[in-house]
Amino acid sequence: MKVIAILLLVAVAQNANGIRIKNKEAVRFRIENRVIGGQTAEVGFAPYQISLQDPFYGHFCGGAIIHKDWVLTASHCVVGSEPEDMVVVTGTNEWKKPGATYQVTEIHTHCNYDVPSMANDIAILRLNSSIEFDSVTQPVPLQTKPMQEGDEVILTGWGSTVLWGGSPDKLQKVYLKYVPYDKCLEQLFYDPDLDYGHMCTFTREGEGACHGDSGGPLVSGGYLVGLVNWGYPCAVGVPDVHASPLFYYDWIRNKISGNSQCG
Ligand SMILES: *[C@@H]1O[C@H](CO)[C@@H](O)[C@H](O)[C@H]1NC(C)=O
Repeated sequence: MKVIAILLLVAVAQNANGIRIKNKEAVRFRIENRVIGGQTAEVGFAPYQISLQDPFYGHFCGGAIIHKDWVLTASHCVVGSEPEDMVVVTGTNEWKKPGATYQVTEIHTHCNYDVPSMANDIAILRLNSSIEFDSVTQPVPLQTKPMQEGDEVILTGWGSTVLWGGSPDKLQKVYLKYVPYDKCLEQLFYDPDLDYGHMCTFTREGEGACHGDSGGPLVSGGYLVGLVNWGYPCAVGVPDVHASPLFYYDWIRNKISGNSQCG
């Protein structure tokens, strides 16, 4: 079963939106963000959550605060864009009501993004000024230890609950479980696009990411364990696939310290 992601450009030609949807059609697609089967998150529930916004068209991807000057997201959210094409909104559960807004000064996509297909879908953005932390705005530490099968993972995002639906104003949350690589591979019918830099989550049909908050955070035990990458539409009963900050730990540290070489 050869599947290819589809990129649907919504609103903004350059800013591809949301999770990369895989399906059986050989077309590339990309749409806006949503979480399926979730609930509205309480204020301050995910203080590391950011909304990546087009200055004119609004929210197009999620991301995570990992440092006062840096946020992580997915490469497919920002590839081909310029820093002035986007702003980072922090400190809010409602993307239309920013707690604070920052400009982006540097976009670092992974130099092997999409090589091989769907791999290395991670990016780090530098902000124009340091984020001011408060009760609803905090960094999330990067995962440093491998996860165990069944570990609880919280996905947050501004997502609709239906395929092709609109983005809700309020942040959604959904509780998922970590699925180890081998099991994920099997459950994805040995999809060759599943890479070691990915991590998988699943609970059951009807829950999960759907075009959903690409770049958005998955957190387990207080640590950032994933950034939404791709899945089959939508919450159909197979795992969702995310970039693993553990796998990219050195890449992230090197970008922040300015020693970045690719790879
Ligand atoms: C950074 O960008 C924000 C949003 O445009 C702006 O309000 C703020 O003054 C900027 N900070 C600096 C240091 O330029």
